[in-house]
Amino acid sequence: MSLRIAVLASGSGTNLQALIESRARIPIEIVVVASDKSHAPALRRAEKAGIETLALDPQRYTTRAGFDADLFARIEAYTPGLIVLAGFMRILDPRVLEPWAGRIINIHPSLLPKYRGLHTHRRALDAGDDVHGASVHYVTADLDDGPTMAQVEVPVERGDSTESLAARVLVREHRLLVASVGLVAAGRIKLDEAGVVLDGKVLCAPLHLLADDTLATR
Ligand code: GRF
Repeated sequence: MSLRIAVLASGSGTNLQALIESRARIPIEIVVVASDKSHAPALRRAEKAGIETLALDPQRYTTRAGFDADLFARIEAYTPGLIVLAGFMRILDPRVLEPWAGRIINIHPSLLPKYRGLHTHRRALDAGDDVHGASVHYVTADLDDGPTMAQVEVPVERGDSTESLAARVLVREHRLLVASVGLVAAGRIKLDEAGVVLDGKVLCAPLHLLADDTLATR
């Protein structure tokens, strides 16, 4: 039984592409890709893969909450078991997120709780960090602040620019996201009041991605 997934994306969609290409390896069915940008390359990737798309224009809504409510009502019609925010660049209304607690995740390009929000690579370089990375976390009302499921560490190299660091992180984001969604699809990981639970045990730290693309406890 495949896990039905709705993906929300606003941009290039390389994380979406990684999920599309993982469909033979992990039991998922991407039932819809939704965007707030009708020209998002992510939507073209979905179309090429034969996946239904949904583009809503925020300009046509008088309030942000109205946009979010309509977006989620339309997504819910696809009965997904998981919503994945993959480069979705809007902050969502807590009222639409609440019913999805534990069933909506986001990929964020930093080692949370460091560098919530934008420009994470620049901030890591400015701080002189020697390790950066990405996180998959459950989405809650607070921006980039839900319990972190899994992370991947990426070394910062001498002479790195924002672009070179972002490119190195992005490649590993893809692997982290597929591995994380794979655990959800396998029914092995979930969020409950105790925190993130893997195989029945509460995690005391996020899982980390190994070189073989498996996720391990610390
Ligand atoms: C990724 O770096 C993701 O972490 C961030 O936005 C970027 C999206 O890239 N939220 P893509 O659209 O998946 O290529």
